[in-house]
Amino acid sequence: MEWKNIALEQGDGWALITIQRPKVLNALNRETLEELEQAVDQVEADEKVRALIITGAGDKAFVAGADIGELRQIPSAAEGERLAARGQALFSRIEELDKPVIMAVNGYALGGGCELAMSGDILIASEKARFGQPEVNLGVIPGYGGTQRLARLVGKTTAKYLCLTGEMITAEEALRLGLVQKVVPHDQLLEEARKLAELLAQKAPVAMRYIKKAINQGAETDLQSGLRLEASFFGLSFDTEDRIEGMDAFLQKRNPRFRGK
Ligand code: CAA
Repeated sequence: MEWKNIALEQGDGWALITIQRPKVLNALNRETLEELEQAVDQVEADEKVRALIITGAGDKAFVAGADIGELRQIPSAAEGERLAARGQALFSRIEELDKPVIMAVNGYALGGGCELAMSGDILIASEKARFGQPEVNLGVIPGYGGTQRLARLVGKTTAKYLCLTGEMITAEEALRLGLVQKVVPHDQLLEEARKLAELLAQKAPVAMRYIKKAINQGAETDLQSGLRLEASFFGLSFDTEDRIEGMDAFLQKRNPRFRGK
């Protein structure tokens, strides 16, 4: 499929979605949200794709937020709420995708861009990346999950500090806060993301799916319920052919070949 603001390419077991609206630093308008969802649908349906990378086009921005020109036209609270629900639903879908999602953050990840990044499973940032929730400077609050995911990732007080001040932080600071998992030189970002995606593409797909579910769902519950969830997914993983393959491969001292079954 051809899109205006999104490019989708595929490699060995992975797919790469690039958000490309360079004139507005890849800001997310409604059309881009729709196209992003269609690209995610396509990735989800394709069994050959075992890991997804999302990045922004160009040298400067991952995504500089929701499109402020479009936000300015929103006439009412109800319409604002509907837009937030739209973006939140898409980012939750990305978070809950059956395959691991790597966010390759190549520059500004602000507002909706930071919120999109936080819906990924693993965040790799270029040294040039900058993170922030500057909505307060526009007289609004984060709407695509920023107050919730940021607080869960870095704690309530740091999330309040970042959302109240609108301050931007560097990739190194984001690493220190646990918001990103790795910082790499700018020109190596995509190569690092692809290497990681290729590594993940070799892992057992069903186990990866259950790991995501156990951590995502477990993080929203108490420890005992989380442990029950883990036991249940652990049990389910024994129903797969891949666990026979994985264990046989270990015992036979060879590399496993997982088929996602
Ligand atoms: N929406 C629309 N246009 C945007 C944009 C956005 N979020 N971010 C940047 N642009 C546009 C600029 O208006 C500018 O357009 P022109 O060339 O036509 O003037 C172009 O992109 C380049 O931007 P700058 O000239 O501003 O570039 P800079 O290097 O001086 O600054 C920046 C870069 C610090 C990222 C700055 O562009 C900026 O602050 N952008 C807005 C960031 C922001 O507030 N994001 C939050 C949006 S609200 C939101 O996301 C709500 C939500 O939670 C869902």
